[in-house]
Amino acid sequence: MKNYLENEKALLAFNIWDINSAKAVLDGACAQRKNVILQTSSGLYKKLPQKQLREFVDSYARQCGVKAWLHLDHCRELDVIEDAISNRWDSVMIDASAEVIDENIAITNRVTEMAHKYGVLVESEVGQVQGCEEDIQVQREAIASKEDIQKFLKNTNVDMIAVAFGNVHGLYQGEPDLHYELVEYTTQHTGIPFVVHGGSGLSEDVIKRLLSISGVKKINISTEVKMSYLNGIKRASEQGLFKEDGFQAARVEQCIQNAIQEFVVQKLQLLDV
Ligand code: 13P
Repeated sequence: MKNYLENEKALLAFNIWDINSAKAVLDGACAQRKNVILQTSSGLYKKLPQKQLREFVDSYARQCGVKAWLHLDHCRELDVIEDAISNRWDSVMIDASAEVIDENIAITNRVTEMAHKYGVLVESEVGQVQGCEEDIQVQREAIASKEDIQKFLKNTNVDMIAVAFGNVHGLYQGEPDLHYELVEYTTQHTGIPFVVHGGSGLSEDVIKRLLSISGVKKINISTEVKMSYLNGIKRASEQGLFKEDGFQAARVEQCIQNAIQEFVVQKLQLLDV
């Protein structure tokens, strides 16, 4: 299957944590007839049945008539990246953004060398996106500088770049203060596909504005997928499913699946502009 930078407009990437969450996201994608990226953080990747997830995603997406790619999100461990490549993940993110720019460049180059041999795409981050994404916590915002973006892209061979432009992992406190000019600068001056992190909590208008910038290729959404899971449990509780005689786990699971699927459908509709 062709990688998602070829022939695809912008895509949404939803974080998943097991085969059930993958199925719920794929059901949303099927309902919308939209291609989709499923991604896992590095910590969760290690706990997954990776080969079985790959097989499931391939066969379920094929049956639904959509394309689905697997991406390893924020990873700082080269052996995990190597493992994901060997398990046929389509793309990997090396997150060396905590390092100084020269070190970030050096580590990224080791990953591109490893990944490109197998046709696996590489995403990397410049600046540091604030907030908490699974096992990665960044306390202080570090918006990328134009100099670092230029230097990074001149000295690496990455396929996609994530730039810290005021975006935050987790929900935003108040109105997001996004530096759109950095997104425009990166896409216009470098032509490298841009990845937006911190998609949860961005309004429809903000997402549409980002999607209108040519070169924005991937918008990541994680926290809100997990919130949908929680909504599913709340719905199950409101329906009294936890108090039924003869508790039926499958009925609770269905509420969760429905909640995630509905959320994914609603988000994917934003691509119809
Ligand atoms: P959110 O958790 O804010 O949606 O961010 C997702 C993300 O950027 C994953 O890398």
